[in-house]
Order: sequence, then structure tokens, then C-alpha cells
Amino acid sequence: MSVRRLHAAQPESFAFSPENLAWAKETIAKYPAGKQASAVIPLLWRAQEQNDNWVSKPVIECVANMLGMAYIRVLEVATFYTMFQLQPVGKLAHVQVCGTTPCMLRGAEALKDVCRNRIHHDPHHLSDDGKFSWEEVECLGACVNAPMVQIFKDTYEDLTPAALEKLIDDLAAGRKVKVGPQIQRHHASPEGGPTTLTDPALYEGQRTFIRVEPPPPPPVDAAAAPKT
Ligand code: FES
Repeated sequence: MSVRRLHAAQPESFAFSPENLAWAKETIAKYPAGKQASAVIPLLWRAQEQNDNWVSKPVIECVANMLGMAYIRVLEVATFYTMFQLQPVGKLAHVQVCGTTPCMLRGAEALKDVCRNRIHHDPHHLSDDGKFSWEEVECLGACVNAPMVQIFKDTYEDLTPAALEKLIDDLAAGRKVKVGPQIQRHHASPEGGPTTLTDPALYEGQRTFIRVEPPPPPPVDAAAAPKT
């Protein structure tokens, strides 16, 4: 567990863009009267996206003012959830390397070495050109495709160190990158293709299925039934 504090260098101000402000008002209106504080996470998330993917003190104050919350309450939310970045992150990519057991067993440590070599020795530091940063995170829910990383909203799975190097190269060069599995695998299906439900007829409407009902219960023998 890391200590999560506001960054030492803070911008002067933050304000939602007109589009995001309209979206924020719509979002707040979805909650019942008196429950507007429930919009704190979606508003912080949208503000983070607008603010170069990190949450600054002015972001927290802006969201708190909109929701009628004390600043400390919004700070508590922003510092509790690690999805909120509390310091500037790489402009092109903040690489979140899953380090939980399945990913660790499948090579997450080698992916962290790539980040250490290519981005910065330590997590939460910007690369020299300010384009990349990285951190280790807990399970991101793609364990079947371990090891994996998340960059902003997208995940990159079935990685090897070489594949992560290439991903970083492609992002740095502005090349289009493939999201999801980095091997010939469809989403989370087995490597090499499906092993069950492989009959094509299943998907062509050629099969009829008969509903199998459970057998009826045995009739009750009234003479043998206990008297009450
Ligand atoms: S352990 Fe890495 S995604 Fe679940």
C-alpha cells in the first residue's frame, strides 16, 4: 500500500470544459435529491481525463463545489481509489502493470523491468520526455490473458517483454496499436481457438433443442401418509 498524497506542484485552477460541464450537470441530475454526492466518482473520472489524466487540488475543489461536498470528502475519495492519479502522468501513456498472482506467475516482473528500463527506474515518475510513466497495480480483471497492462482506458494482454517494448515504441512513434490480446487469441477464448461448442451447426440455426423437463414427483399414498 503506497502513501497517496496530493502532488507538491499544483496548477492554479481547473474548470470543466463546456461539453464536460454539460455532461456533469446531466450526471448529477441522475441522482435523487440530496444524493448528488454519489456523482463524485464519475465527475472525478471525467475531470481526470480532461486534466491530462491526473487529479489536482483544483480538480478536487471544483468537484466538491459542484456537489456541495467538503473538500476533505472528495480528497478522501481521490486518495482512496488508485484509479485516480495524484501526480502528472505520461502524456502518451501511463502504463499500469498488473502485479497480482496470475500476472506475476506469467511474467509481470519482466514487464516491470521493461518499464524500469524504458520509462523510469521508479514508478510514478515521468520519462525524460514526459511522454510515459508507469506503476504496478492490483488485478485488473483480465487474469485469463495474463500478463497484462492497462493504459488509460485500454488493456493490452498476453504480453511478453518484447511485445511491451514494441507497444511502447509504437505509442512513442504515433503508430496505431492493437488493443486487447497481443497474440492470435479472440478476447479470452483459449489460445489456439475454441475447444468446446465447436459444432458450426450450433451457430447456424440448424439444431433444434428439446426442453427436458424434470420427472413429476411420485404420487402421495394417502393411506400411508402420517395422520396429524
Ligand atoms: S491478476 Fe492480472 S489481471 Fe488479474
